[in-house]
Amino acid sequence: MFRALLTSRLQAAFTAAGIDLPEGFTPGVVIASDTRFGDYQSNAAMILAKQLKTNPRALAEQIKAALQVEDLCEKITVDGPGFLNLTLSPAALAQRLAVIVKDDHVGVPPVAQAKTIVVDFSAPNIAKPMHVGHIRSTFIGDSLARVARFIGHKVITDNHVGDWGTQFGMIIHGWKTQLDQSKLMADPIHELVSVYKAVNAAAKADEAVLEICKGELVKLQQGDAENLGIWKECVRLTLEQLEKVYGALDIKFDHYLGESYYNDALAPLVAEMLNQGIATISEGATVVFSDGSVKPENDPFLIRDKDEWKPAPCIIRKGDGGYLYATTDLATIDYRVKEWQADEIWYVVGAPQQLHFRQVFAAAQRRGITTKMIHIAFGSILGPDGKMFKTRSGETVGLLEVIDEAIERARTAADEKEQGLSDTEKDEIARIIGGGSVKYAELSQNRLTDYKFSWDKMLSLQGNTAPYLINAYVRTRSIFRKLDGEVTLTEDLAITEPAERALAMKLAQFAENAHDILDDHRPNLLANYLYELADTYHSFYEACHVLRSEGTARNTRLTLCEATSRVLKTGLGLLGIQTTERM
Ligand code: ARG
Repeated sequence: MFRALLTSRLQAAFTAAGIDLPEGFTPGVVIASDTRFGDYQSNAAMILAKQLKTNPRALAEQIKAALQVEDLCEKITVDGPGFLNLTLSPAALAQRLAVIVKDDHVGVPPVAQAKTIVVDFSAPNIAKPMHVGHIRSTFIGDSLARVARFIGHKVITDNHVGDWGTQFGMIIHGWKTQLDQSKLMADPIHELVSVYKAVNAAAKADEAVLEICKGELVKLQQGDAENLGIWKECVRLTLEQLEKVYGALDIKFDHYLGESYYNDALAPLVAEMLNQGIATISEGATVVFSDGSVKPENDPFLIRDKDEWKPAPCIIRKGDGGYLYATTDLATIDYRVKEWQADEIWYVVGAPQQLHFRQVFAAAQRRGITTKMIHIAFGSILGPDGKMFKTRSGETVGLLEVIDEAIERARTAADEKEQGLSDTEKDEIARIIGGGSVKYAELSQNRLTDYKFSWDKMLSLQGNTAPYLINAYVRTRSIFRKLDGEVTLTEDLAITEPAERALAMKLAQFAENAHDILDDHRPNLLANYLYELADTYHSFYEACHVLRSEGTARNTRLTLCEATSRVLKTGLGLLGIQTTERM
């Protein structure tokens, strides 16, 4: 990867020029934002000159003289106040291209230090309506896990489903009194949610119903055989249906360790935290207070109330003995650290849970946990009207509904096109395009901003969409179909035309992009890269004849097409989006 290579050469140049680097300063190279002066750029001389109080341009010239990059660059210039600009040579680009078409990882090098990373994502709640937050979590989490794995980390994905909680009091009561068996068999998640909603409404209206539900919950928690049986059946039916959806979306989890998995660990955990002095009893509940170790504005156990900082403790056991979401999460951290030796745990969960995670992470740290825990937060999805997002039938949207509708719409579009494809082929294309479109609409957004959901936009063949990118891939494949296997690419490559150069450059930068995504856990960096790649490819295709060229030019251009094809497929794959050979 050029950036890493050039950075190490630059560092060597400082040494060769006899310039001592001040502590904490590492000279770096970035992809040039303005490519008129070069492909890569460094402002190291300027930063250093300030610290050493010397002339930045003179320093840059000194570094330039010591810089050994003949094998990579055709030009080095010092520009402006002291920028070093580097232009890659066509030969270096051609060499990269040869690697991209051969290498399993399309030239993306592995991370220097592989870590064990647990990715906690999706995690819907059983028998409660799934909301759009679960859609975002599912796609972002899956993509980040794929990227981390691709660059060489050991990734463990864990679906921490909400399979234990107060909702089961209502579900069990509803199950016993109003369950429709045939509906349950046809669509278990839907039936459980509607039973839950009905009982919830009844309990709100009638205190007596609420009491019955509470009674059912207590019986479940005490291990009553009938209630445990119902609970188990709810979990089983829901997971079975969820796995079908995940299957259609090509999403896999290594584990499904839901909240209930940690039930037995909760009492000892709370006892231990009391012993360690991390938790205290307050008004009957067991809570974690601030330990005053950080500034109030950074302390998750304090809240600003008018002019005062007031305690905002994290409750780990209620007065009635019940445990909470935070307790389960603390037990889950213990497990992931002990059983999996996690170096990092990533929580892909909506922004509203920020305080929860800040408290849980701080409490875990006080218990001596050194694993890096990161809350990868995201905003909401809005309907096209800017309000809460609804489906065609007017219901609030869950993952299942959205995917079904996307596939159905993509299927209609496939029918309208009618190009000699069989029904089975069209079904498969609709699955790939439909699922891919919803995923891409999500992943091309900055995760922290709210975004508007628009069917027409996401399924359009124009613009920054999955169909556009998949279509670009299909076009690269169709060239090779025309050749009917009659081509062997060789390493006889020469990059001469500006459009060839631009495409080779873009392709080479995938190596950098794939690593940058994880700096701030942003799949949209990858989506943007792929969109630019597809655009660069289209310009190349318009500017350069591929099939009508000859000799080295033809081989080079076909290699560019093959490399584009491979990078598009790999990149889309990292977003969890499959490709199709035709559409
Ligand atoms: N089930 C939770 C919810 O729907 C999300 C769980 C996220 N993961 C976790 N370890 N807390 O809000």
